[in-house]
Amino acid sequence: MQFEDNVELKMLNTFGVNAKARFYSELHAKDDLKQIATIIDDNPKPLLFLGGGSNVLFTQDFDGYVVQVVSKGIRIVSESENECFVEATAGEVWDDLVRFCIHHNLYGLENLSGIPGTVGSSPIQNIGAYGVEVKECIHQVNAVRLDDFEELQLMNKDCLFGYRDSIFKGALKGKIFIDSVVFCLSKIAHFTLNYGCIADEIKRISPNITDLKAVSNAIVNIRNSKIPDPKLIGSAGSFFKNPMVDSHKLNQLISEFPNLIYYKITEQSFKLAAAWLIEQCGWKGFRKGNFGVNQLQPLILVNYGDASGQDILHLSHQMQQSVFTKFGIELHPEVNIL
Ligand code: FAD
Ligand code: EPU
Repeated sequence: MQFEDNVELKMLNTFGVNAKARFYSELHAKDDLKQIATIIDDNPKPLLFLGGGSNVLFTQDFDGYVVQVVSKGIRIVSESENECFVEATAGEVWDDLVRFCIHHNLYGLENLSGIPGTVGSSPIQNIGAYGVEVKECIHQVNAVRLDDFEELQLMNKDCLFGYRDSIFKGALKGKIFIDSVVFCLSKIAHFTLNYGCIADEIKRISPNITDLKAVSNAIVNIRNSKIPDPKLIGSAGSFFKNPMVDSHKLNQLISEFPNLIYYKITEQSFKLAAAWLIEQCGWKGFRKGNFGVNQLQPLILVNYGDASGQDILHLSHQMQQSVFTKFGIELHPEVNIL
């Protein structure tokens, strides 16, 4: 494998910001890792794996090696009467895996239809949407440790999954390459339809049949109604995570802001709707030149043209500051800022 010099990354990140990689190459199989390590040994610089580039914000050129993971493969590993284990390679497009499962009548990933990116990134922030998180279907993550090429098999409980969180964002950040993920899907029909307006949308588009295709189509329609298509308007989806608070902070907020939107997670922890906090601070639909805040979903920061990563980062800091001033709540980015 060979690295190209000074490669433009604009088309490789869904924010569509300009940034150059000092060195760039594709990875087609985990065996490429040893060659990459030899090249880096000769000229040490940072290494960044890139999947679909849908959860990164480049704020400057990357003075190192950008390796885009394009390894492909989806296969059924084993199955029983009720379950099916499917292994997908890191560079597979996430939505292609979802479609594979729907095609084979396997239940579990349909609410995650339409999420951009690759399979290899899906466990990193435990992608989630419409009442489902990918951790519910992950059986095992196969990874390679970068310092000694040891192959690691992390079972679901080893991954320390949480809301938009996992061991891959913590202790293993930057230390491993995710090579493939094994998912455990159900052969028994069951759906999660209690989030927002999914049930209504299914009734509208498929009044007589609730099947995997109907659920998936309903989810995609709902997503398209508020999330901008990154092919048309640059973004990385939600820029911030929804903040968690304890009951003390929640009660304090409710007494001052009775319309506060929150969800009970446990007796002691509550998730606030960051979109609501941001809207209350007047950011919804904000636009300055080529960048701004989406007018339908204010958790999404957008690049309307050739905004820079610095423009978007600066805007995110202003939003964090005003939410903190009004509510005393810190918003933490979901996006990886580089
Ligand atoms: P990238 O942005 O390429 O990489 C993300 C991080 O993972 C980087 O740190 C990268 O170095 C690391 N990485 C990538 N591949 C590997 C690998 N093989 N091994 C080790 N490290 C690796 N997310 C949700 O959870 N729910 C949503 O509903 C959702 N909606 C979105 C809507 C839009 C329009 C957009 C643009 C994004 C949305 N996202 C959503 C965020 C994003 O799609 C997910 O975070 C996705 O998993 C990122 O995948 P990616 O391959 O593009 O990752
Ligand atoms: N809301 C407002 N004003 C708005 C929009 C929303 O007050 O302009 C309130 C509404 O009350 C709404 C609530 O915010 O009920 C939540 O909004 P939404 O259902 O759109 O979800 P979200 O919490 O903003 C999360 C994920 C999305 C995921 C959706 C659907 C995070 C950070 N984001 O958004 O994931 O698609 O739920 O499940 O958890 C992503 O991670 O990139 C992403 C897009």
